[in-house]
Amino acid sequence: MAKKDNFRWKIGEPLPSIEAHTERKLEVIEQYLDIYFDTVTASRRMDNLRITIVDGFCGGGLYQKGHETRFGSPFVLLNAVERAKVRVNEERHKPLEISAQFYFSDANSIHMAALRDELQRSEYASRLDNTIILQTGKFDELLPSILTDIRKRQRQGRSFFVLDQWGYTDVPIQSLQKIFSNLQKPEAILTFSIDALLNYLRKDGTGLDGLKQFGVNPAFVSMWQELKDDENFGRATAQRSIMEAIRHNSGAQFFTPFMMYSKTDKRWMLLAHLSKHQAARDKMLSVHWDQQNHFQHIGKGSLFEMGFDHRLFESKDSLFSFRQDDERKLLKELEDELPARVMDSMVDNVLAVDQLLSQIGNLTAAKNNMIFDVLQKLVGEGELQIIKKDGGRKKASTLIEVSDKLVRPEQPLLFSKYFPK
Ligand SMILES: C[S@@+](CC[C@H](N)C(=O)[O-])C[C@H]1O[C@@H](n2cnc3c(N)ncnc32)[C@H](O)[C@@H]1O
Repeated sequence: MAKKDNFRWKIGEPLPSIEAHTERKLEVIEQYLDIYFDTVTASRRMDNLRITIVDGFCGGGLYQKGHETRFGSPFVLLNAVERAKVRVNEERHKPLEISAQFYFSDANSIHMAALRDELQRSEYASRLDNTIILQTGKFDELLPSILTDIRKRQRQGRSFFVLDQWGYTDVPIQSLQKIFSNLQKPEAILTFSIDALLNYLRKDGTGLDGLKQFGVNPAFVSMWQELKDDENFGRATAQRSIMEAIRHNSGAQFFTPFMMYSKTDKRWMLLAHLSKHQAARDKMLSVHWDQQNHFQHIGKGSLFEMGFDHRLFESKDSLFSFRQDDERKLLKELEDELPARVMDSMVDNVLAVDQLLSQIGNLTAAKNNMIFDVLQKLVGEGELQIIKKDGGRKKASTLIEVSDKLVRPEQPLLFSKYFPK
C-alpha cells in the first residue's frame, strides 16, 4: 500500500507532504474536469447543469510542498466547478448555472475533522452541510445512500466519482457495478495498486476469494507464477488481466487505464477512467497526451490486447509514454494494424465509425483524431470511402466524424495494399 504517513491529516499537526505521483494524479483530475465541463455545457440552450461529485476517499484536503500548501482532491473538485462557472459563462448571452452537489467521505474520522476545519476556513464555508455533505465511513457502505440521493435529485444521474483508494480492496467491483448500473451518466476515476496486489500474491497465494472479482483465480495465479520471473512480462500480463477484469465486471463500457510509477513506494499504480461513453474516453486520453511522460503503459500504444497478449514478448521492455516519438511510432503501427481491424469488423463491407471506436477504444492509446488520420489516409489511397450521416459520400479531403460510416468502394482497388479481393 501507499505509505500511509503521506496521507495523514490531523487538526493542529503539520500537513502531509505531497508526493510527485499524487500531484500528477490531481493534475489529471483538474485538467480532465476543465475539459469535461466545457464539453457537457456546449449546448447554448442549456441553462442549468446538475451534477453530483463524489470523493469517496477524500482525505484532509491540503498538503505541504516546501513552503507552499497544495490542494487535495476535495478542493481540486470544488475549485474545478468554480472555474467552470466563470469560464462557461464568458461568451454566453443566457447565463448557465452549474448546480453541483458534493459528497466528501473518508473512513477516518480524524481526516474528516481536518477537512471540515479547512473548509470552514475557506471560501466554501457557507456551503458546508448544504451543497457540501461530509460523511465519515467506508466508501462501499456509504455508496447506496449516495446513489439514492443522486437519483432523487437528478433524472440522468450526471455524476463524477473520485475513488482514490490506498491499495486495491476498498473499491469492490460491486461498488463500481452499482454506480454504472444505477446511473445514466456516471464517470469515475479509480486508483488501484496493481503492484501491491501482485506483491501480496508473491508472498501469500491464499485468500483468493476476495480477489476473484479482479480476475485473480487459480488460472491467473498459475499463469503469474510461470511468468513472474520475467518481471516486465509477468507484470505487464498481470496488469492487463486485472484491467480487463475490472473493465468487464464494472459495467463501465469504456475504460482508459494508464500506469503511474510511485518513486516513494517503488510501485506501479493504475489510474483508470471509467465511463459509458466513447467521447469521454477520448477526452481522458487527451489529458494523458497533454501530461506527456507521467503516464505509461508497458508495450505498444497502437493496438494492444487486454489479458494475455503474446506481442508483449517483443515489446515488453518499451514503455509507452505519450511523447512525440511515441506518437510517431503509434501512428506508424496503427497504419499497419488498423486496416485488418477495420476489415474484420465490417459487415457487408460497411462499418460505422462510432462502432469501430467502441471496439478499439479500450485497446489503444490513440485519441480519436489519430485514428481518424490513419483512416483518412486509407480514404486518400482509395482503400475506403466515407459515407455521411445523411447517406451522401464524403470527399477524401473532408475530415472524418464519429457519425460517419466506412465502406469499401464498389470497385475495390485492383492492387489493394490491405484488403484482399
Ligand atoms: C490516498 S488517500 C486520499 C487522498 C485524497 N484523495 C487526495 O487526493 O488528497 C486515501 C484515503 O482513504 C481513506 N480510506 C481508507 N480506507 C477507506 C475506505 N474503505 N473507505 C473510505 N476511505 C478510506 C484514508 O483514510 C485516506 O484518507
